[in-house]
Amino acid sequence: MTENIIPHSHAITQTDRIKKLGYKPLLIWFVGLSGSGKSTLASGLESKLFHEGINTYILDGDNIRSGLNKDLDFSDESRRENIRRITEVSNLFVDAGTVVLTAFITPFKEERDKVRKKMGNKYVEVFVNCPIEECEKRDVKGLYQKARKGEIKNFTGIDSPFEVPENPDVEIKSHKLTVEQGVQKIYDHIIEKIK
Ligand code: ADX
Repeated sequence: MTENIIPHSHAITQTDRIKKLGYKPLLIWFVGLSGSGKSTLASGLESKLFHEGINTYILDGDNIRSGLNKDLDFSDESRRENIRRITEVSNLFVDAGTVVLTAFITPFKEERDKVRKKMGNKYVEVFVNCPIEECEKRDVKGLYQKARKGEIKNFTGIDSPFEVPENPDVEIKSHKLTVEQGVQKIYDHIIEKIK
């Protein structure tokens, strides 16, 4: 499909944008089960960075699936396409000079490896590691209960797989830390890559 497509190199490059901004954009990719705390941690970290004058943006599973990806379901194939599109969108935002924080379950290793390969040193993987029993106990959105009753099919951790990240850049055991502690741990890891 990309035959006869010849990308144009524009005059202003990412290097120019970095010089103007005074910091380096980054993609911070949160991985974890539904209800593990990805969005909460991403939000906390975004606030901290935003108040330091850094341009930030959060791409979040439920939000993106209400718009850009509303045509996708929770089959393995749709989950792969979900992550492929988010990777492309994140890459554009990062190129434009934004620190992007994404909160998607991202259950498959192969897809995570593809993001890392595409983004290189501009990628940080944060594994929000919370036992499913705890996510299920919280059940903020009531979805685990529906999945247990069979009202939702292909639910991650119940009847759809979650491949545990083996080498994340940062691991947050969200059931053992406060949000502030979790945010600080991620911040300490990423800040030297940005500034
Ligand atoms: S991913 O697997 O493709 O990365 P994504 O993060 O976009 O998933 O969407 C997950 C969110 O969709 C969950 O937090 C939950 O609120 C909702 N959801 C609805 N159905 C499912 C399902 N079958 N499996 C997992 N999450 C679901």
